Amino acid sequence: MLTFPIIVLFTLLRFAEQTCQANLEADIVFALDSSGSVGFPHFKKQIDFVKDFVNRFSIGSTRTQFSVVTFSNTVNNEFSLNEYPNKHRLINAIDNIPYRQGVTNTHLALEFVTQNSFLSANGGRSNIKKIVIILTDGKSEIPVQTKKAAEQLHLLGAQVISVGIGSGVDTLEITGIASDKQNVVKVENFDELTTIEAQIQNAACQDTSDTLEDTDLHSICKIDCPIKADIVLLIDSSRSVGLSNFQKQLDFVKDFVNRFSIGVTNTQFSIVTFATFVNNEFWLNKYQNKQGLINAIQKITYQNGTTYTHLALEFVRQNSFLPSNGGRPNFGKIVIILTDGKSKEQSATKNAAEQLHLLGAHVISVGIGSGVDLLELTRIASDKQNVVEVENFDALKAIETKIQHVACQQTSVDWTQTTVGQKNEYIQQNINTTVTESCNTIMAITYLFREGRSSRTGLIFEMPSHKIHEYNTI
Ligand SMILES: *[C@@H]1O[C@H](CO)[C@@H](O)[C@H](O)[C@H]1NC(C)=O
Ligand SMILES: *[C@@H]1O[C@H](CO)[C@@H](O)[C@H](O)[C@H]1NC(C)=O
Repeated sequence: MLTFPIIVLFTLLRFAEQTCQANLEADIVFALDSSGSVGFPHFKKQIDFVKDFVNRFSIGSTRTQFSVVTFSNTVNNEFSLNEYPNKHRLINAIDNIPYRQGVTNTHLALEFVTQNSFLSANGGRSNIKKIVIILTDGKSEIPVQTKKAAEQLHLLGAQVISVGIGSGVDTLEITGIASDKQNVVKVENFDELTTIEAQIQNAACQDTSDTLEDTDLHSICKIDCPIKADIVLLIDSSRSVGLSNFQKQLDFVKDFVNRFSIGVTNTQFSIVTFATFVNNEFWLNKYQNKQGLINAIQKITYQNGTTYTHLALEFVRQNSFLPSNGGRPNFGKIVIILTDGKSKEQSATKNAAEQLHLLGAHVISVGIGSGVDLLELTRIASDKQNVVEVENFDALKAIETKIQHVACQQTSVDWTQTTVGQKNEYIQQNINTTVTESCNTIMAITYLFREGRSSRTGLIFEMPSHKIHEYNTI
């Protein structure tokens, strides 16, 4: 009597699995250990594993894309996500990956993937699930850096699956590399790799089944902005600004933060000044009340150096939103950069800005005076609408409301997590809006979903589409 339902169940499971692999829209990057301890025959087994794995998916720019990097002393980008849009050529390319030997510089691989693999120039698609599968047979060369690089990769919202092969792996380390404990897979040896294909495929398929149905948006306009976000302000401290204008920027920042409710359940601010060097004035979690924050802003000193904007953007990407520095994963990330001129290293600035955008940070760029480069400001901003220009430092005052408004448009939602039975529910709360006809339209949806199965209950505001993705894959 029992047999029949069980068979049905298995058939359904298999069906679900097949549906996932056929329809999975994901960008998947493999990072393969090419270090000396692996040895050529075992390296070849990794290659076979990747080939079999890839073979399970529909390949292409509307389905699943694959990239492979190998790492040992250095990192080699074997091919990017958009390089092989058909299975035959893809598998051929995997077959041709050479074995390189050397030490296990895992941190370099993680950094490389964070900074490059998902860029649109390399075929990365926005709003598509990002998956990194890293295979290694041993401890990394510099564990501290591996841990840090993994944290930065997690900030991208990538699902990181770490596969440890053999007895030389450090379980603690591969757990730190994975984005979740459930994404750690261990096998005894390279031969066993074949037995875990389905398991890894399932991990990859897991949370994409949780997609939102059509969104029934309706537009609402609001006056007051109950924004709750993590905001990093970048202040230009370069020579061309001059001391008195630097002071005007600080006055602007003081007035600006004064408009928000400060604290760990509201808005948090971090300030970074930049010129020749990047100075982290304070992290997001340093001041949990307005007076402390404003006192700290008054004490910020002028640096008087070169406009190395790229260093500031890189610093923010790598550090400012880390949970250990007060970043709250479920809150909007906003970066507001004030500058009066061109950056010194324009192409580095462009690249650093793109990488910051990959974090899902809303970047607002404010150009002050006639020395700014509009093209560069537009590249730094995460959206054309996030570029604000003013004639001079005195005019900053007039744009506080405008910048606040831009910031409000980015994130007006936050989520609370409650546990119902064994599932987590994420519910949007404390949204208070007033409808007017004069303000810009802000659309949003409120929905509730359960892990494993989503069910939307109501709708109020729009979430930026990348956030839908982000919350969908919690
Ligand atoms: C900034 O540096 C320049 C020379 O490099 C100097 O002339 C100027 O006085 C400095 N300004 C401040 C406020 O220190
Ligand atoms: C929501 O907005 C209305 C109208 O502005 C106001 O009267 C009310 O106190 C607000 N509620 C909360 C919880 O902020």
